[in-house]
Amino acid sequence: MFARTSLRTARAFANAKTGATRTVVSQQRNASSQSSAESAPTWKNTATLSASTILAIGSCTWYYTQFGRTAHAMTMQEEGLHATPYPWEHEKFLKTYDHAALRRGFQVYREVCASCHSLKRIPWRTLVGTMMTVDEAKALAEENEYDTEPNNEGEIEKRPGKLSDYIPSPYKNDEAARAANNGALPPDLSLMVKARHGGCNYIFSLLTGYPEEPPAGAVVQSGLNFNPYFPGTGIAMARVLYDGLVDYEDGTPATTSQMAKDVVEFLNWSAEPEMDDRKKMGWKVMAIGSVLFALSVWIKRYKWSVVKTRKLQYNPPALTGLPNKMNPRQARR
Ligand code: HEC
Repeated sequence: MFARTSLRTARAFANAKTGATRTVVSQQRNASSQSSAESAPTWKNTATLSASTILAIGSCTWYYTQFGRTAHAMTMQEEGLHATPYPWEHEKFLKTYDHAALRRGFQVYREVCASCHSLKRIPWRTLVGTMMTVDEAKALAEENEYDTEPNNEGEIEKRPGKLSDYIPSPYKNDEAARAANNGALPPDLSLMVKARHGGCNYIFSLLTGYPEEPPAGAVVQSGLNFNPYFPGTGIAMARVLYDGLVDYEDGTPATTSQMAKDVVEFLNWSAEPEMDDRKKMGWKVMAIGSVLFALSVWIKRYKWSVVKTRKLQYNPPALTGLPNKMNPRQARR
């Protein structure tokens, strides 16, 4: 049934095609038979065509200039200076975090940034083994007070922190944070490296990019600080890192850039704590994957060798009883 239908369709299609050819031929014949009597209004045709082309292009241009262009809210300059790409050691394929740097970075966060910025997604337990021992982490957790579950009278009491608790926020809520910072909200830093274009480079540039004086001509609103890397250049956070601000226990000189580098690496860890494991797993996958791939190529060639190396031979049946001319075997000779 289906075969018949498709056959019919094919035939109809073929007819249509011949029909079309025929039409073209007749048109051609018509064209050749047209005399010069009809060539007079050609200039009118040309004029009409040109006019409509100009109208079409003109209306497209008009529409594009009116509605087509992207409207930038800010100039490129106001978008903020593009952060310098730095050769971060921990971002390389074969490298892990420098765990001593993570420990220093956490110290910078705790002593400098933690008075304004929360790190809500990081529990104390994750610090164990990555940048400190169990006892150190427990001692840090116990320095903070957390709410207990309601007791039999429904009272909520305070208890010292445990490893399973999350690092406490400096403010009770966003409103309190804004009220303490001139209306600006210090964002949570847990995922900050992933949340900003430029990641580590951006935060490092931001922290180290405060000039002594805003450049001549720059307008800085009161309460804001000039930083060329911050979109809009006016940031509510003032410069926070100064040489010698913290005392590193491993004796690393606490310069502004050293502290910025350490805290940025720490913030990268807080945003991607799985990175070391992920890279290790990635290399295992690559190693095993490439062995399996090579093996499968070899097996494919092995299995197909029979098919690929066979020789097809056609032996036509001997044609006997035919005149010599008709017999291809004899004719060839
Ligand atoms: C005195 C309070 C204060 C301290 C201390 C502080 N910040 Fe901030 N931070 C702010 C405020 C307020 C903002 C919001 C700025 C704005 O929106 O204009 C901010 C914004 C940021 C931003 C986001 C910028 C953006 O692109 O939106 C980052 C990243 C940041 N701070 C990192 C840090 C780091 C790292 C430290 C510690 C070395 C630190 N801050 C210390 C108050 C602070």
